[in-house]
Amino acid sequence: MKMGYSSSVALLALLMSIVVLCNGGKTSTYVRNLIEKPVDMPLDSDAFAIPPGYNAPQQVHITQGDLVGQAMIISWVTVDEPGSNEVIYWSDSSLQNFTAEGQVFTYTYYNYTSGFIHHTTITNLEFNTKYYYEVGIGNTTRQFWFITPPEVGLDVPYTFGIIGDLGQTFDSNTTLTHYQNSNGTTLLYVGDLSYADDYPNHDNVRWDTWGRFTERSAAYQPWIWTAGNHEIDFDPQIGETQPFKPFSNRYHTPYEASQSTEPYYYSIKRGSAHIIVLASYSAYGTSTLQYKWLTSELPKVNRTETSWLIVLMHAPWYNSYYNHYMEGEPMRVVFESLFVKYKVDVVFAGHVHAYERSERVSNDKYNITNGICTPVKDISAPVYITNGDGGNLEGLATNMTQPQPSYSAYREASFGHGTLDIKNRTHAYYSWNRNQDGYAVEADKLWLFNRYWNPLDDSTTPIP
Ligand SMILES: [Fe+2]
Repeated sequence: MKMGYSSSVALLALLMSIVVLCNGGKTSTYVRNLIEKPVDMPLDSDAFAIPPGYNAPQQVHITQGDLVGQAMIISWVTVDEPGSNEVIYWSDSSLQNFTAEGQVFTYTYYNYTSGFIHHTTITNLEFNTKYYYEVGIGNTTRQFWFITPPEVGLDVPYTFGIIGDLGQTFDSNTTLTHYQNSNGTTLLYVGDLSYADDYPNHDNVRWDTWGRFTERSAAYQPWIWTAGNHEIDFDPQIGETQPFKPFSNRYHTPYEASQSTEPYYYSIKRGSAHIIVLASYSAYGTSTLQYKWLTSELPKVNRTETSWLIVLMHAPWYNSYYNHYMEGEPMRVVFESLFVKYKVDVVFAGHVHAYERSERVSNDKYNITNGICTPVKDISAPVYITNGDGGNLEGLATNMTQPQPSYSAYREASFGHGTLDIKNRTHAYYSWNRNQDGYAVEADKLWLFNRYWNPLDDSTTPIP
């Protein structure tokens, strides 16, 4: 039988729709101009400038110091002498200064000796208030400021940034500048900081340069730390057998406030978000401390107090690049059903040096014998976003599995950063901003509907 023109068109349309259904989402056609490998900024770069003055504090950075945002851990390094652990701080409206005293740490790593690393927690802060603080008391002082979050609440608007795998290349510098031009007021850092371990003997001088490079943002707003594989710094060949030694000395977290016993997994509440940080490189099987901690933490999440539930980790569970393919699988097997049960809204990861966003899918029905081992659409599941695209010296992951799997909604091998703009209990606007020829371009964007308050299918919501 001969087919008419209209039926041919209909058949073609049907075939095309089948192809669309079988394959996944969008693989961006954008190809970065500069395909050469990124290079680290030289040691004498302006980005690494040492502040002038005897024993001047450097590498200043802050992170949330308690469960709800009324404390801040202030950290800095002095190099000439220990100096003071004191922080002097005052609010915009206060008539008096306050003082807090902290502790100083040093460590050695192979042939490197650290400066004096100070950590001081300031507490009892008012919500939604601008504070100034001063470090380097007694020698050269430096002043900075930050703004505390609003009190934890259901409809509190708040904007987070997301950066991972930043490193310290010229591309890293672009990513950080673009992020500083965004509305982000707290950065969710999804692991792999300095990449010092890519240098001979893990040259820890590159931990110092990274600290000076990131100070221009991290001294003014909290960076919420996730540990990545580049923080492990385990190298028995040079006698370095204490894992996470540079990271744990330099970057503290408020893990005890959430009853965690290890600094690499913990939770905080900030604005309308309950943020759970997981540790891809700490044990997570069902008999481990991390498992016990998470299974006691999730029932504590009160969605009538913090409407949004966000998880950070380093190694992604849903990844369709060849790089690190399936590395997140063991942790997914252990934890995924909990994420679905407790309706996690969004999971941010890094590790893969590219960008990817998943559909709302789950894959937790497999029991070895039933053969059900394919991710399926699940509106109780989180969206998984990989932001391993900060711009480090190892370069982009460009090889993608083909065809694009159905769980993958958008993927692109470019550097950039994300922002999550929580509007209220029902809606948050997520955007991914690619570094394109020196300016930030919003390349992927979507409205996320809250899984507890607005559990509708949000995969096809048009962007205004
Ligand atoms: Fe990594």
